[in-house]
Amino acid sequence: MSACQDVYDILLKKFQEKYGRKPEVVAYAPGRVEILGNHTDYNEGYVLSAAINFGTYFAVASREGLESRLCAGDVMEEVSFNADQPSATKDHMWSNYVKGVLAGINAIQKPTHGFDAMFLGNIPLGSGLSSSAALEVAAGLAFSKLYGVVLSNLELARIGQKAEHDFAGVKCGLLDQFSSINGKKGSLVWSDFRTYDVKPVTIGEDVCFLMCNTNARHALVDGAYNERRQRCEQAAAFFATRLDHKVAALRDVSWEEWLKYHGEMDPITAKRSAHPIGEDERVLSGIEMLRNNNLAGFGRLMFESHDSSRNYFENSCPELDTLVDGAQAIPGVLGARLSGGGFGGSVVVMVNKTDVEAASVALRNVYANKHGSRCDTRIITCSDGARVVIG
Ligand code: GLA
Repeated sequence: MSACQDVYDILLKKFQEKYGRKPEVVAYAPGRVEILGNHTDYNEGYVLSAAINFGTYFAVASREGLESRLCAGDVMEEVSFNADQPSATKDHMWSNYVKGVLAGINAIQKPTHGFDAMFLGNIPLGSGLSSSAALEVAAGLAFSKLYGVVLSNLELARIGQKAEHDFAGVKCGLLDQFSSINGKKGSLVWSDFRTYDVKPVTIGEDVCFLMCNTNARHALVDGAYNERRQRCEQAAAFFATRLDHKVAALRDVSWEEWLKYHGEMDPITAKRSAHPIGEDERVLSGIEMLRNNNLAGFGRLMFESHDSSRNYFENSCPELDTLVDGAQAIPGVLGARLSGGGFGGSVVVMVNKTDVEAASVALRNVYANKHGSRCDTRIITCSDGARVVIG
């Protein structure tokens, strides 16, 4: 039985105990790992990512009237509000993701009744594996089914993204929701955040991915994220005035163009913009390398990606650097980098399958020796995306 099956069984039991009936709809959405392409999504660029084998279930049943109850199944904390008036709160921050999603669904169709809902997942919070996107996508799928609202994958992802923007204050791109929805078992997913095309990219059977959660989350993460995004937009506006082709986003700027003009920008904006521009190029080369089964080359791109985060985007931190630097010396490791927003969270390590257990122990030791605290490691598998389980 998988860990996710356990979560599902516990959720059904808790739902029955709390609300005295079975849910009408249950949806599941996985977390995601970002393999290459950091902070490229909101720059209309490319990302290689995967949905993972950890996720969140969202269970819901209709209720007469508009008053609705929402329960976080891990702590059994409940909030109630009217289904037609979801608004952000400061006291139960976890509920904001769900309320934000409901607001997105309400904008398409006003609810005629309320609900009882509960969710439960097994993605560690703050680990950089997108527990919030998994919750948004699972809630979005469940509500759309409950209220009979038909959504495309892109609309569902955008509803989750808008919940982050308006209810959680993070001006994120679409990567997390997109990966959670479009994941494909056994494959990485290549997303183009201009055309919204998604293609599976196979990676072969010899390597696997290890997530190492530093358990570190540095202060002001959300503010730093939004600030980075703003810098990228300023850089794109600058390049639009210099280049003789259209620049709608940093996706339209090549590394050669960056080299030629970066000295004319203010130094911080220049540094920040180097990162997504370089990342787009690394994603494209990485796909070529995977096609040619050049796993060593792909791993090197992951290390380069981390260097770029560390030096240009400054979204790494000592805890992440310890793991990436340590990984370079561990037998069987091909590549390592921070995954997701940065400033804490997890490092993703690509490692030969035969070496994964030893590498995992070695990484935990490296981390404990340097920081005197624990980092959690787990092998992740590329998994299918979100789905309705009941309903
Ligand atoms: C977070 C955001 C994503 C993306 C990544 C960085 O996970 O939610 O939209 O920008 O950071 O690539």
